[in-house]
Amino acid sequence: MSVLPALVAGVGLAAASAVAGALDAIEVEPLAGAVRHTERTEPLHALADAHDVSVGVAIGTSSIDEIEERVLLAHHFDIVTLENELKWEVVHPAPGEFDFSRSDELIDFAETHGMAVRGHTLVWHRQLPTWLDDRPMTAQQASALLERHITEVVGHHAGRIDQWDVVNEPFADDGSGLRPSVWLDTIGPEYVAMAFEHAHAADPGARLFLNDYDGWNGAKYVQLVDLAADLLADGVPVHGAGFQLHLAGSLDVEMIVEQVRRAERLGLEVAFTEVDDRSPAPMTDTIRRAQADRIGALARTCAASPACRSFVVWGLSDGHSWIPEHFPGEVPGTLFDAELAPTPAFHAVAAAFTSPSHTGRS
Ligand code: G3I
Repeated sequence: MSVLPALVAGVGLAAASAVAGALDAIEVEPLAGAVRHTERTEPLHALADAHDVSVGVAIGTSSIDEIEERVLLAHHFDIVTLENELKWEVVHPAPGEFDFSRSDELIDFAETHGMAVRGHTLVWHRQLPTWLDDRPMTAQQASALLERHITEVVGHHAGRIDQWDVVNEPFADDGSGLRPSVWLDTIGPEYVAMAFEHAHAADPGARLFLNDYDGWNGAKYVQLVDLAADLLADGVPVHGAGFQLHLAGSLDVEMIVEQVRRAERLGLEVAFTEVDDRSPAPMTDTIRRAQADRIGALARTCAASPACRSFVVWGLSDGHSWIPEHFPGEVPGTLFDAELAPTPAFHAVAAAFTSPSHTGRS
């Protein structure tokens, strides 16, 4: 069933038709292509429902600029992560000053289309506002600032954000433990538990995650599950572990399965929070197939793991990916190419959530 009428209802079907009519064939084709795709393709989220998994993508305000993107988002996904719009530099631009205009806009879009929302992220060492960089703080001042930020941000969105990446990337890449940051350096290791306590107090209904990427050898995911489980055991309101899963041309799926199962045994929910893949350019059919194999393996792992409830790809399409800016010379792997056509990875994810043999769920 096409979602186009529901989407253009916002601008009025007649108006949209008039606009479409006024556009030349090239500009109309992408919309027609997106609509044709949605009319003949089962929504990914509907396939994943059988495994109790929500399927989503990270979105920014640019993701909903074009109607064909909105068509694809509304059709396939039932959860979205705000890619940048809830980070300190956006929502807390000056001391004591908060701006939720961009997050509200994206959450309005999500709610209009029945999507759940992942909030990203309350505590991180990156994308902090410059006023924080130049601000020496005592432990007490930093603790008070952290509490104020989390209380304001979570409180403003209470009831509208289902999951929060409360603390993002807390571990050092060298495996030495917690990453040095303004939070660790001023407050100490207890900043992690404090953040979860403040988030839970501000919205007791939200599920709270500790989120990190792999150190490419699995060590960080071991630390991630260990810390989340230890906090949970200490009575800290931690609900899950977020495995980012930004792949770089390889995947040790057995390691991922082992860590997911360990999290499950320790009473944690698991979210695959930032799935994508990057490989050295140029893009080739061989790379597309390899990316599909890896991303499909992650989808099968999530589908087969009762603890894994969310499978989120980091960017609607290759054209929305962070990778080209941050890794020049590498090509991204997401579910739609730059022309918003489904990639082999899209079909691999659909197959993973369709195949009953991969469910493993009771
Ligand atoms: O907002 C400014 C804008 O005012 C300016 O004109 C523009 C030009 O440089 O830059 C804009 O800021 C950019 C920001 O995204 C918002 O678009 C930054 O340059 C850019 O570096 C930043 O990149 C983001 C990156 O995190 C920063 O570390 C990516 O979009 C985002 O996808 C990426 O996401 C992270 C997750 O939050 C955590 N896990 C890793 C993941 C990938 O790095």
